[in-house]
Amino acid sequence: MFITIEGIDGSGKSTQTRILEETIKDIAGCDCTLVTREPGGWEGGQALRDLIIKEHFLHSWTEALLFVADRCEHVTRVILPALHQNKIVLCERYNDSTIAYQVWGRGLPEDEVRRLIKTAGLPEPDITFWLDVDVEKALEHISKRGEPDRIESDRELLERISEGYRSLWKKEPERIRRIDAKGTMDETARNIKVELDRIKKMLKFAEK
Ligand code: TMP
Repeated sequence: MFITIEGIDGSGKSTQTRILEETIKDIAGCDCTLVTREPGGWEGGQALRDLIIKEHFLHSWTEALLFVADRCEHVTRVILPALHQNKIVLCERYNDSTIAYQVWGRGLPEDEVRRLIKTAGLPEPDITFWLDVDVEKALEHISKRGEPDRIESDRELLERISEGYRSLWKKEPERIRRIDAKGTMDETARNIKVELDRIKKMLKFAEK
């Protein structure tokens, strides 16, 4: 079972992923989850993460290629081995981030980016939780965390990325589940739980 958690910066992904992990462990009745994230969720990936997040690239494709390169290693070294061990993989950010950020945010052509992802042979998530949050609220979270990075500090960019997620959700409402993340942390966690109950039947681990 491969689950991804998506949303703009400051949408509360890390907190909700931790809560989701506990909920899934309760439902599945086992300690069988693997929590990871992109970029940089593999051994050696931190250096690549630091580079991608901090650097200002001049060529329009550099950022997208680096995110996909990072994903190739992450999938091969971490995600697929865990799935082969029948683990439930919870991954913060994945292909949808590349479409939302590099296509909707940066303006790269969607077909080409999708082709790149397809060429890399990356597996599709079974389910994706998209945390739908107001940009205003996300910016508040970001400013509380400290110095924002180059993506986090750009309000218009975050607005476009948010629209990108909405469009992805509308195209694939079965895989991408929209979670209202506009309220408190507890309310968002409850909304995820409701969605989880709704899709329980299709979740492979629920059959155990
Ligand atoms: P994080 O801080 O949420 O882990 O993500 C790091 C930043 O990288 C965040 O601003 C989103 C961005 N990002 C992309 O632009 N494209 C991608 O494919 C991924 C995985 C992340």
